[in-house]
This record gives sequence, C-alpha cells and structure tokens, in this order.
Amino acid sequence: MKAVIMQDNKQTKAGAPPPGEKAETARIGAHGGMEQSFGFQKVAEADKQKLVNTVFHSVAGKYDIMNDIMSGGLHRLWKNALVAWLAPPRRPGWRVLDVAGGTGDIAFRMIRASGGQGRATVLDINGSMLQVGKARAAAKGLADKVDFVEANAEKLPFADACFDAYTIAFGIRNVPHIAAALSEARRVLKPGGRFLCLEFSAVDMPLLDKIYDLWSFHAIPRIGQMITGDAASYRYLVESIRKFPRQQDFAAMMAAAGFAHVDYRNMTGGIAAIHSGWKI
Ligand SMILES: C[S@@+](CC[C@H](N)C(=O)[O-])C[C@H]1O[C@@H](n2cnc3c(N)ncnc32)[C@H](O)[C@@H]1O
Repeated sequence: MKAVIMQDNKQTKAGAPPPGEKAETARIGAHGGMEQSFGFQKVAEADKQKLVNTVFHSVAGKYDIMNDIMSGGLHRLWKNALVAWLAPPRRPGWRVLDVAGGTGDIAFRMIRASGGQGRATVLDINGSMLQVGKARAAAKGLADKVDFVEANAEKLPFADACFDAYTIAFGIRNVPHIAAALSEARRVLKPGGRFLCLEFSAVDMPLLDKIYDLWSFHAIPRIGQMITGDAASYRYLVESIRKFPRQQDFAAMMAAAGFAHVDYRNMTGGIAAIHSGWKI
C-alpha cells in the first residue's frame, strides 16, 4: 500500500509501537477530525477515502480469516450481540441496510435472526469486499435475500425513510466525514427506525489496555505481513482504532445527528462498543 502522506507525518515501521507524539496518536473528539486522519498520519482530506480504499482492496481476499485471527474469534460474539440487541422481527418486508457491510457478516446474521423473513442490503464503497460478500451469500444460499450495492456511506443512493434498521460494523471509523454518514443514516431510516453501530472503542480496564496495546501494535501488523504480505494495511487498521472517538464522544455525535435515546454497551472491557439510537 502506498500512502500519500502530508509532510508533517512519520511512517512507522511494521510492528513498531505508536510514535509518542500526542497530536498524531490522540483520539478524535466529538467535533470531528477523522477527515484528515489516516491512522496516526495526517493526510489531505481529499486523499483519505482513496487510502482507505487501497487498504480494503488489498486485504479483501484474506479479510475474514484475518478477522478471526486478530480478534481470537471475538468479532463473531460482538456481531451476534449487535444482532441480538436489534432483535430483527420475523416479519416479511422488514428491511435492514448494512453500511460498510464488506463481506456480509452482519447481513447474513440478520437474515438468519429474522427467520428468513427479512431482506438485507449490504452497501460498501469497495467492490473487492463486495465480491467476497456476494460469493459468500451464494455459498450460504442467501443470494435472493441480500442485495449488494457499491456506494459511499456519505451519500446513500436510497430514498428517504425506506429502511427499518441501519447497521454499520467496524465501518464508521473508516468513513472520512462521520457526521455526513450519520445524517444519511437518519435520512434513510423510517420513523421508528433503529441505528446500531459496532466499532472498536476505548478500553476501560487497566491491565487489559496494556495487553491489548501489545497485541495490536506488535502482533497484528506482523501477522498481517505473514498472512497477506501487507503489514501497512494492518497498521492502519490498528492506528485508526486508536484515533476513533471514545464511547461518550461517539454517542454525542449520534445525538448531534438527531438520533434519540442514544445508548451504548461495551464489549470485552471496551475493546469494542455497540451504539444504539432511534429515529423518532
Ligand atoms: C473493517 S471493514 C468492515 C466490514 C464488515 N462490516 C465487518 O464487520 O466485517 C470496513 C469496511 O468499510 C468500508 N468503507 C470504508 N469507507 C466507506 C465509505 N465511505 N462508504 C462505505 N463503505 C466504506 C470498507 O470498504 C470496508 O469494507
């Protein structure tokens, strides 16, 4: 992966700990800043999405296996928890939009939980990720229940108020303009519709945060290098986790976008969090 980085940035070596400079590594607050942040590097706003797309084109083929290795399988439990919190109804015509849906994990779970009654749309900006998702849907016999749409979360190609639920899992931190994505999420939801976001978050347990740092900054880029030959993409994924707003700040961004009854649940000591909100 070749990054177009603005001059005030440093490239870190594969597997190196994060650089100590606070501005580079500090978390973004509730007022935005992910637009120019590509991991710990500051990039031109116009380049952020292109760089993110390069990462996911590179990792798409090994994305699912790497998810299991990097999280020790925990991502499956967190995704199950998101689906359980949403509790899809077993009602024909119920529709969920899974944004940044990639290889389809959330959509497939939603269809199963709705007893095959619901319909899911997987939207992603990256055609390579969607290709893997389509092949998986066919292999699972779900091709007629899931649509795949290549588009940007910041500008959804759907009419107002057409989905019952909107989900986004490990996607929002990759979107440059989070406020735009949240506003679009609210627009396409029906009144009474539900927004749920699963994302890596801020660990709130003293020992766990040290272990997690060692694993993230030392092990993951090395494993990424071994399995995909691309340490840089995995370094981005780890760094972007550390830049993403804390639980309370992301909840404030959701409230600012107009969501009601905003709430969140920590998963595994805050390694990940699920945020929930309603369009009323
Ligand atoms: C870490 S993957 C998550 C995939 C899937 N949701 C999961 O949980 O396994 C992040 C996804 O976000 C997508 N993405 C990044 N920027 C996006 C944007 N602006 N609009 C839509 N999707 C985007 C990437 O292409 C990638 O597929």
